[in-house]
Amino acid sequence: MDKIRMATKSVDSIEETFGRFPGHRRAHARGKTFRGIFTGSGAAAEWTKAAHFKRGEVAASIRFSHFSPDPTWADAMSPVKGMAVQLGGNGEEELNIVGVTSPVFFASTPETFVEILEVTRSVSKGRPNLHTLMALLKDFPESRAMLEAVKKFQAPAGFSAGLYHSIHAYYFVGEGKRQPIKYVWEPVDGVKGLSAMELASLPIGFYEVQIEDRLAVSPVRFRLLVILGEPDDPTDDPTKEWPSDRKTAVLGELTILKEDPAVDALLFDPTVVAAGIECSEDPVLRFRSPAYRASFERRSAEIGEQ
Ligand code: HEM
Repeated sequence: MDKIRMATKSVDSIEETFGRFPGHRRAHARGKTFRGIFTGSGAAAEWTKAAHFKRGEVAASIRFSHFSPDPTWADAMSPVKGMAVQLGGNGEEELNIVGVTSPVFFASTPETFVEILEVTRSVSKGRPNLHTLMALLKDFPESRAMLEAVKKFQAPAGFSAGLYHSIHAYYFVGEGKRQPIKYVWEPVDGVKGLSAMELASLPIGFYEVQIEDRLAVSPVRFRLLVILGEPDDPTDDPTKEWPSDRKTAVLGELTILKEDPAVDALLFDPTVVAAGIECSEDPVLRFRSPAYRASFERRSAEIGEQ
């Protein structure tokens, strides 16, 4: 099946499994959006000429989200949160760095992703909940790394308290060299988790209020780290984490300044990178581009009709 048909199929499959919510993203449906500034540290100069990481400032648009495709799910039912950042844009060269609070994904190919959704649909009566999903993933060997990771980590105590991983590898390219990297957004406030009890008792919309309250005190800051891959580290499999002793570097700091609902209309395509950066061969990363486009076109058309 070609990439575009497969992307449409995956988005259809999400809708058939979780329901259709006009005007919303087909995954990570509920979120909150902001504007800010990214200040490059200059530390990437050794590997890439990407303009965004040079010393200096660039505009940033940010969206935090709950992973569920159903915007009515309680916050606790989406233990994995998302942070999508677009640096530049608005006529300037665009670089998207999209992360989630898990270091690995549950499927190594688009085909497995669709298969998992199909199995979910066939066994769940009505729409599946988090527990059905977790139970099903146990039957897919490649999903175990994500299940283990989710068991080990705690849901963050707020959108501003999570560690967000790009999961996929990219390459910094320059002067005949290709340095594999993965990105991590690290909160300057520190990573803070919630116990299962605390998570279960949260009211719906807790995370949205948390970041609003936090931002009322002062700007929210995240450091952008890169993990530097070594020759045998897998660059094509989002179910595999790199060893924890890999070197890291700080590429700069994101300062989140104010809420901006207009950012919700953006498309955070993780394959849009700047000159000096390339996408890895990871089939899930490459497939996300047409899948996100399909979701973007559907939600934009629905908003136009409302
Ligand atoms: C087969 C793989 C995947 C599929 C089919 C998929 C599907 C989707 C779709 C349809 C959207 C909504 C896009 C939009 O309307 O703009 C979305 C959003 C999102 N996805 Fe994925 N996704 C996949 C893998 C991943 C992975 C590996 C990550 C890890 C970083 C991820 C993180 C996110 C985040 C953070 C958002 C919200 C972006 C925003 O705020 O605009 N996804 N996904």
